[in-house]
Amino acid sequence: MSTTHAPTPRPVIAIDGPSGSGKSSTSRGVARALGLRYLDTGAMFRAVTWWMLQAGVDVHDADAVAARAGEPEVVSGTDPDAPTITVDGTDVSVAIRSDEVNAAVSPVSAVPQVRARLLELQRAAIGDGGIVVEGRDIGSVVAPDADVKVFLTADPAARAARRALEEGGSDVAATEASLLARDAIDSTRRTAPLVQADGAVQLDTTGYSLEEVVAQVVELVRAVESPA
Ligand code: DC
Repeated sequence: MSTTHAPTPRPVIAIDGPSGSGKSSTSRGVARALGLRYLDTGAMFRAVTWWMLQAGVDVHDADAVAARAGEPEVVSGTDPDAPTITVDGTDVSVAIRSDEVNAAVSPVSAVPQVRARLLELQRAAIGDGGIVVEGRDIGSVVAPDADVKVFLTADPAARAARRALEEGGSDVAATEASLLARDAIDSTRRTAPLVQADGAVQLDTTGYSLEEVVAQVVELVRAVESPA
């Protein structure tokens, strides 16, 4: 019996990892290189968090967050050259990167009702594939049958330096403290914690350029599409 896999014309590529590990740049680069769509699930959790803050919900009160989890209408655009995110029709792509959202997003993301609601939207966006999806639980929960699963890591100092640069040169030490605090909550929550999924390939991006990391992931995808 043949053991070769059927070619995968519409692959699903799951890219998970902690904050600042290079998920967004890598995922967009891979999507561009392979002509695929791109979904930033972190932006979806940030959008819900932004909405909760606007609505005056106490983000540390899980029951209060759960009670309103069904209200925000989050819509994600999946073009890797111009990803978009709106809540109730408002473009929140800049607002979701604020310090207020950074500080509130992990507790909001830990609420099961928030995760359940976004899981539906994520699965709808994935549809029949042809997409790179980045997050924390993509390979473990959202798309456990993904064709390629990658778990990106990097030294905390490198992650903080990258994030601070992305955020316009903010304080690296404060950025490192903020992302380590988020990692701690994201890794220990009960529902869909940040873990390396079964079958995921771990790539440590410390010391590699974006082009090198993208090339490594593209190679993994090609290996699945045309097994030796
Ligand atoms: O990738 P990011 O830093 O934009 O994600 C922001 C937060 O969203 C992260 O701290 C935890 C949450 N998140 C999640 O719980 N599950 C995902 N699939 C993606 C993000």
